[in-house]
Amino acid sequence: SRVVALVPAAGMGVRLGENKPKAFVHVGGSPMLTLAVQGLIASGSVDEVVVMVPAELVDETRALLPVSPTPVHVVPGGAERTDSVRAGLDAAPDAAFVLVHDAARALTPPALITRVVDALRAGALAVVPALPVSDTIKSVDAAGAVTGTPDRSGLRAIQTPQGFDAELLRAAYATGTQATDDAGLVELLGTTVQTVTGDAMAFKITTPLDLVLANTLVAQGGN
Ligand code: C5P
Repeated sequence: SRVVALVPAAGMGVRLGENKPKAFVHVGGSPMLTLAVQGLIASGSVDEVVVMVPAELVDETRALLPVSPTPVHVVPGGAERTDSVRAGLDAAPDAAFVLVHDAARALTPPALITRVVDALRAGALAVVPALPVSDTIKSVDAAGAVTGTPDRSGLRAIQTPQGFDAELLRAAYATGTQATDDAGLVELLGTTVQTVTGDAMAFKITTPLDLVLANTLVAQGGN
């Protein structure tokens, strides 16, 4: 069955403090987007990749991406992340399984990508990589006062790629709900989301500190 990986990279987010969209910020000399796509291809578990970028960056993005036997398509994203994922789904009509992967998780080990696909092939309809949380997590109110301390043993930090039965993800996106988490949309439909073991190397490069860590890891050959 055909596995298509969608990489939403159409945000203009500048939280890293660089003057370009995050997916185009370099890590170890390559754009994060390029590294993320290379990881998907290297897994050997993905048949096709669709990257969604700002419309004005489609042509230059094509030049940045690896040339490989695995087809890599670049399409314009939309105003919100959900619009970008929808554009990616539209570009992948023959997918049986869909992965949605953050470009910012540029150092994701190919073995993690394969774990997600294997769980889908084993029958799971929705799969997310998960790691135990090492920090204590508290809920707070608008004034910053603590309202609760959930038992840490029952919490997980969720990574990408998130994997889905293609029809299920299309149905989730057809509801029109906005969400930052694809699995969250599927949960709203009442479908069980399965976890597989995540990997610390799949961390999301979000802050300047993360960028230092990522560059150091690539320089050490840790990628
Ligand atoms: O800005 P935020 O961190 O929520 O973006 C999450 C991901 O969604 C980023 O990879 C970003 O490029 C992508 N995105 C997108 N289309 C948008 C907004 C965000 O593909 N319109």
